[in-house]
Amino acid sequence: MNILLTGGAGFIGSHTFVSLVDAGMRPVILDNFVNSHTAVLDRLRAITGHAVVCERGDVLDTAWVEQVLRRHQIAGVIHFAGYKAVGESVAQPLKYYHNNIGGAVSLMRAMEGAGCATLVFSSSATVYGDPATVPICENFPRQHTNPYGHTKLVIEDMLQAQRIAHPEWKVAVLRYFNPVGAHPSGLIGEDPVGIPNNLMPYITQVALSQRPRLQVYGSDYPTPDGTGVRDYIHVCDLAEGHVAAIKALFAQGESFTANLGTGQGHSVLEVVRAFEAASGRTIPYQLGPRRPGDVAQCYADATLAQQLLGWRATRSLQQMCADAWRWQSRNPNGYR
Ligand code: NAD
Ligand code: UFG
Repeated sequence: MNILLTGGAGFIGSHTFVSLVDAGMRPVILDNFVNSHTAVLDRLRAITGHAVVCERGDVLDTAWVEQVLRRHQIAGVIHFAGYKAVGESVAQPLKYYHNNIGGAVSLMRAMEGAGCATLVFSSSATVYGDPATVPICENFPRQHTNPYGHTKLVIEDMLQAQRIAHPEWKVAVLRYFNPVGAHPSGLIGEDPVGIPNNLMPYITQVALSQRPRLQVYGSDYPTPDGTGVRDYIHVCDLAEGHVAAIKALFAQGESFTANLGTGQGHSVLEVVRAFEAASGRTIPYQLGPRRPGDVAQCYADATLAQQLLGWRATRSLQQMCADAWRWQSRNPNGYR
């Protein structure tokens, strides 16, 4: 079964490629490499032992995407392609609305043209904004606090409208919590451009002395140690969640929206300690002010995914840290 992965050369897409091959499916990558490197393709070949099929181009090019869908006889699409930096989306909102919403519209029109109606979409826990309580269930109210989050909300709504208008469409909306870690081979992982915005890549760069210390954003939150609590999920667990989701769409044909998280929250300082234990390195840090827009706690109620998909995350925080460290220490400059 051929599955198109838009943005398949990126962090989550590349790990999902491996899981799809492991599950006996044939993934095809579509990527313009605006935030990834072609070197990932050789790494994927090395991990899977299979040829890697990649179409280089832009998801905004509807006619070309339709040709790709037809040429590879694609049965279903996993749509990862998009921009994801919250701060950048505040500074350059049109860049985000154009690529993320425009990209989703373009892809869906191409799918319509090619007669493909099975789609898994990368949404985010960001659609819950500042939740009133935790853990967060799928039926909690949605809100957005920045243009990036707004694009995810709008795309979720577009998918819903399309399903209502065309009941043959089968859509899985997956709301990821905080993906971290890397494939245990150390060959693929997260490779942010410039100064990392996210906690784990920042910590791994501090461990390599590429940055002097971690700034902990806030130590006065109403959490056990005062630092922010998140639901960190190993990217390989997340990847396997996508395989379970696309299989469920093919098997049951029912559309659904599900959280992909572990259901467990960890504070910033817990992550620092787990990383120190996994790497044997000390992580110097400084407690600082809160980062604007951050919430105190965000973790999933992960039971729906287990019920619907028979999937749950199994890898520990320790494994997330060990795998993130293996990737970063073997590839201090990422894919470059
Ligand atoms: P990433 O930037 O590593 O991967 C995205 C890929 O899409 C990149 O390879 C990029 O080159 C490609 N791309 C972007 N615009 C494109 C376009 N117009 N045409 C073709 N390719 C294009 O990001 P990721 O971390 O792998 O995230 C994948 C998806 O998951 C994104 O939609 C993101 O919003 C979502 N998500 C990520 C996180 C996270 O923390 N990483 C959390 C929640 C949701
Ligand atoms: N943090 C620090 N120092 C840093 C970076 C982060 O203390 O240098 C803290 C944050 O304050 C937060 C925690 O570490 O408490 C996690 O922060 P991240 O930036 O790694 O992740 P966020 O939860 O803020 O956001 C991420 C993605 C969003 C996505 C969200 C939910 O960046 O796009 O997870 O999926 F919406």
